[in-house]
Amino acid sequence: MKKILIAFLFAPIVAFASGSVHLDKWPGTVADKPALQNGAKLFVNYCLNCHGASYMRYNRLTELGLTEQQIKDNLMFTADKIGEPMRVAARAGEQRAWFGATPPDLTVIARARASADGSGADWLYTYLRQFYRDDKRPTGWNNLAFENVGMPHILWELQGEQVLNKDHKLELAVPGKLSPKEYDQAVSDLVGFLVWMAEPMQEQRKQLGIFVILFLCVLFGFAYALKKEYWKDIK
Ligand code: HEC
Repeated sequence: MKKILIAFLFAPIVAFASGSVHLDKWPGTVADKPALQNGAKLFVNYCLNCHGASYMRYNRLTELGLTEQQIKDNLMFTADKIGEPMRVAARAGEQRAWFGATPPDLTVIARARASADGSGADWLYTYLRQFYRDDKRPTGWNNLAFENVGMPHILWELQGEQVLNKDHKLELAVPGKLSPKEYDQAVSDLVGFLVWMAEPMQEQRKQLGIFVILFLCVLFGFAYALKKEYWKDIK
């Protein structure tokens, strides 16, 4: 019984770690605001059709250096008010019927996909570049990082069409609108946005940590003085 419980406990980790693929390192950083802006644009244009980011509000995109007007004009397709969350354009039930799997919410996907093999960013950067043509799949696409994935290759127009050659390596069979280098850059920007979204507070959080420690030091000083004051007559 105990063994079964332990197996259940670790099942999610095993599921993510299994079939461990080589992960390419994400080359970007969350400090690069223009890259994050481009990533946000790609995200609303290509991903929001199926995936929501329902813990993210449109007005938070101002933290990427955009004005509310720019957000309204260029990025807001699934909401009327700037304070609304980034909801999915289609309904979840419909998608299950199309793809046999519901596209998960992507707000924290960069954290959810972190594994022993690498960061969530590395996994996403690899996944979004490793779709290939596969006639055996209902969507016509498969993926080296996510075997038999239910998601079609949404960015195929940009990347072109890859196939698996006889050495089981990816090969660009039909070129896309972007060169391989440009495509990698676009995906890197998109991953940057996903990483930022998963933890938009990461910069502030570090500062808050220091503030909390300082506050505790000061509090300790007061508490100690107070204790001395209380006990001084008792001895
Ligand atoms: C046509 C609908 C559709 C679009 C558009 C789409 N996806 Fe997906 N996505 C799916 C489905 C369906 C799944 C679930 C696949 C599965 O479980 O087999 C999925 C899964 C994923 C996963 C894996 C989630 C996990 O299980 O960890 C990631 C990451 C992802 N999508 C990212 C993206 C990004 C980034 C974009 C935009 C470039 C995008 N998707 C656009 C349908 C879509």
